[in-house]
This record gives sequence, C-alpha cells and structure tokens, in this order.
Amino acid sequence: MDRPHISLNFAISADGRITSIAGIRSGWTSPADQARFARLRENADALMVGRGTLEADRMTLRAPANPLRCVVSSAGRFDPAHPLFHTEGGPIHLLGTTAAPMEIPGTTGHHGSLADFLRTLRKMGARYLHCEGGGTLVRALAEMDAIDEIHLTWAGHRLFGGATAPGITGAPGGFFPASQAYELTCFEPLEKEGECFLSYRRQRT
Ligand SMILES: NC(=O)c1ccc[n+]([C@@H]2O[C@H](COP(=O)([O-])OP(=O)(O)OC[C@H]3O[C@@H](n4cnc5c(N)ncnc54)[C@H](OP(=O)(O)O)[C@@H]3O)[C@@H](O)[C@H]2O)c1
Repeated sequence: MDRPHISLNFAISADGRITSIAGIRSGWTSPADQARFARLRENADALMVGRGTLEADRMTLRAPANPLRCVVSSAGRFDPAHPLFHTEGGPIHLLGTTAAPMEIPGTTGHHGSLADFLRTLRKMGARYLHCEGGGTLVRALAEMDAIDEIHLTWAGHRLFGGATAPGITGAPGGFFPASQAYELTCFEPLEKEGECFLSYRRQRT
C-alpha cells in the first residue's frame, strides 16, 4: 500500500452525531472514552485532524511515542497562537490543498492533494495513521476508500440532534457512490457509563 494504514476514532451520540454544532468543543463522553482515546494513539506513527477539529477541540496531538502531528486544511491558514504550535511533541506537518500552508516556525508545510500527502507520510516511514476527525476530513478519506479501521464510542445516553448536525462522515449531504462494508472486531459494552466501545475493520474482497 502506498499510504499508511488509516484508523479513525469518534464518539457518537444515540442519533449518530459527532457534535450538535460544528465548531463546538466535543470533549470526551466519559473517563473510559478519554482513556481509550489515549490508548488508540499509542500505536500511531502519525496523528491527523482537519483544521476545524484542531480549532474546536484545541488539539495538541501529543502521544508518548511522539507521532507526526498532521493537520489538513484547504486554505492553509492557521492561527500561529494555537497551542499545537507551542506544545512539545512530534514533528508538525501542515497540508494546504488549494493554497500552500502559511509558514509557522517549527512546522513543515505541504501543498497538494490529500492523497499525495498520505503517500508522502508513508514515504517518511508512517505505517499507521490515526485520524481523530472531523467529519469533513473523514468524508474525504471515505471517498478515497482509505479508511481501514473505525473505532467508536457509542454514547447512547446523549442526543446531539439537529437536522444539520454532522456524523462521522460530516454534515448530511450527498450519498457515496456505493456503501462500504466493515466487519466488527470489538464490541465492549460499558454498563456503568451507559456506553459501548466498537471497532470495525474494512472488508476488502
Ligand atoms: N465526536 C467526536 O468524536 C468528534 C471528533 C472530531 C471532531 N468532532 C467535532 O467535529 C467538529 C468539526 O467538524 P468539521 O467537519 O469542521 O471538521 P474537520 O474535518 O476537522 O475540519 C474541516 C476543515 O478542515 C479542512 N479540511 C478537512 N478535510 C479537508 C480536505 N479533504 N481537503 C482540504 N481541507 C480539508 C478544511 O480547512 P480550511 O477551512 O482551513 O480550509 C475544513 O474547513 C467540531 O465541533 C469537533 O468538536 C467531534
């Protein structure tokens, strides 16, 4: 494969949403969700988010093994005061798809398509890339059929609601050309939290 193996992690509400309003901090649904969130970062050579999630969740993308910290943008504009740029951690790689990312000390900029960026990360040695959202970025990965594993915390105790609230593939919009099949690899109900951990692996025939 000329790209890294790609996994996702999301917490979803009973109505399958990832937030009620894009741009609002999502946080963790429970301490168990937070612990799993950290565990899922452990094997990653690279962590990746869209700029919307970087901003909304004030992410610094740190993990003990110092994976690459990757952020995807179209316009390539970032807030240099964002905590990501002022927190120790793995090398920071910024992608701008329509414009080159602005120059921020301590970061490496890339200008090109998301597909090329994934190939570049693989060439840099990244075998496992873990994506933490948001829906807009995941929609693009799904359109490339580039999602190998999906991890969910099903927080059935909450409704996020709203006709336009996004799910893991973003705001309601066009259908995919075809549905994609995944097989269940983990089913772990958490009685105390009223939640369930789920993992799925892409079935490729
Ligand atoms: N429940 C959960 O587990 C969870 C997880 C993650 C996020 N969230 C929530 O989701 C919301 C953010 O959603 P979102 O859809 O706005 O997130 P997003 O995908 O993180 O950010 C969207 C922005 O990222 C850039 N981007 C994404 N995909 C791109 C692509 N294929 N090519 C070029 N640029 C791309 C664009 O940036 P530019 O505007 O810079 O061009 C776009 O405007 C927040 O409220 C966050 O808290 C929830």
